[in-house]
Amino acid sequence: MMRASFANVLVMATPWLALASGEGMAAGDPARGASVFRACAACHAVAPGEHMTGPSLANVWQREAGTVVGFARYSDAMKRADIKWTGATLDKWLNNPERLLPGTSMSFPGLKESKDREDVIAYLKAVSENKASQAEQDGRGMVMRGAKPELRKAPPEGQVTATKYCGDTYTIETAGGKTQKVWEFNLRFKTDSSKDGPLPGKPVIVGAGMQGDRASVIFRSPEEISSFIKRSCE
Ligand code: HEC
Repeated sequence: MMRASFANVLVMATPWLALASGEGMAAGDPARGASVFRACAACHAVAPGEHMTGPSLANVWQREAGTVVGFARYSDAMKRADIKWTGATLDKWLNNPERLLPGTSMSFPGLKESKDREDVIAYLKAVSENKASQAEQDGRGMVMRGAKPELRKAPPEGQVTATKYCGDTYTIETAGGKTQKVWEFNLRFKTDSSKDGPLPGKPVIVGAGMQGDRASVIFRSPEEISSFIKRSCE
């Protein structure tokens, strides 16, 4: 219910604000920061170990840049950077990533409003210091549901049972009994080995039937891809 969750946000916000002013810092508003974080959420999760386009930001506060364990996609620029993430360095980074670190792979123009930076930094700090367990969940829920569907709970029309390839066309059959033909250039094959990914041997199709008819079939592992696709014109 809306009212209950709004009350939660207020309750959570109070200790953070007290903490921030107690340390004599500019009092960013972490609760507002959680919503500014939507600008980041397509690429970053705040749950530990959950890496997307960008690394998990679970423990970014006071950490050396480019050192999150298990994230294998840092740019050379980030790996070489001699930066520790504090309020000051994060403010520069989020204002204009490319200016702070030329050659970074974070393609994000920056947050131009200093208030937005201040609040999202307060949110990251609260998350890192584990003072944001509720906000962490909120942030995650908000984001992950949007960015990555729950592949293990795909409806029958999303569960791929067979894929044929003929000419320039893939024919996808699903557990819902529907057969769909997609131009090869509009179909993407992806893998998701995370805990949100599909089960082995149970690929899932998403985004089908949208304008342009672009769709993705998501497999558990790369080995499944070619074994699942049969060349057949029947
Ligand atoms: C389009 C995807 C994308 C968006 C949007 C994005 N980031 Fe990033 N972010 C990345 C990538 C990729 C990296 C790694 C950059 C590199 O290695 O050069 C990164 C790195 C970072 C780092 C450094 C992490 C470390 O381990 O040192 C921080 C902090 C960060 N991002 C914060 C944010 C925040 C806060 C936002 C939103 C205001 C945001 N990012 C928006 C993709 C994104």
